[in-house]
Amino acid sequence: MKKDHLSKPRIAIYPGSFDPLTNGHMDVIQRALEIFDEVIVAILRNPAKKYLFSVQERLEMIRQSFNGNDALKVDAFDGLLVDYARMKHAVAIIRGMRAISDFENEFQMALMNRKLHKDVQSVFLMTGFRWIFTSSSIIKEAAQFGADVSDMVPEPVNLKLMEKFPRMETHRGPHPDRSGSR
Ligand code: PNS
Repeated sequence: MKKDHLSKPRIAIYPGSFDPLTNGHMDVIQRALEIFDEVIVAILRNPAKKYLFSVQERLEMIRQSFNGNDALKVDAFDGLLVDYARMKHAVAIIRGMRAISDFENEFQMALMNRKLHKDVQSVFLMTGFRWIFTSSSIIKEAAQFGADVSDMVPEPVNLKLMEKFPRMETHRGPHPDRSGSR
């Protein structure tokens, strides 16, 4: 799907809250980068919702996690996603799919986006199997109670989570009987 040297770059937007970025998101971004010339990870600025991390913190964490990849851009947007996609000349909106439970909401959103802007395609990428049960909210909940989530988030996110929620000694490292299990 990538461009040949004469055509325009194929830009995809990967929108979301990313509160915070997880390894599941990272997996989707890496897959998207294999298909598109440029991927813009776009954080929705939504004053109506309460987030753990500010937009600025989330932008920073994503930048640090993808240091040095020119094909990846990080940004924040307001309002309708399709308006932002139009402004960026994006050909696709990327969404990650984990389980069937994601489907209904994603399907509804994709159809609404198509109605509002017929020239941008929703592209669903399946996360790697090991990330199927990861989500920002479950990670935040575990981290809040002192759990070690370092194998579920990129290092810059892990450090920020530890700043917000100092970890208890007993939760550090895997359980001795379950080390290596995923
Ligand atoms: O990570 P999330 O919270 O599942 O991301 C949802 C997001 C930001 C992609 C979605 O809420 C969105 O696109 N909001 C922008 C407003 C919009 O365009 N709504 C119409 C599409 S239903």
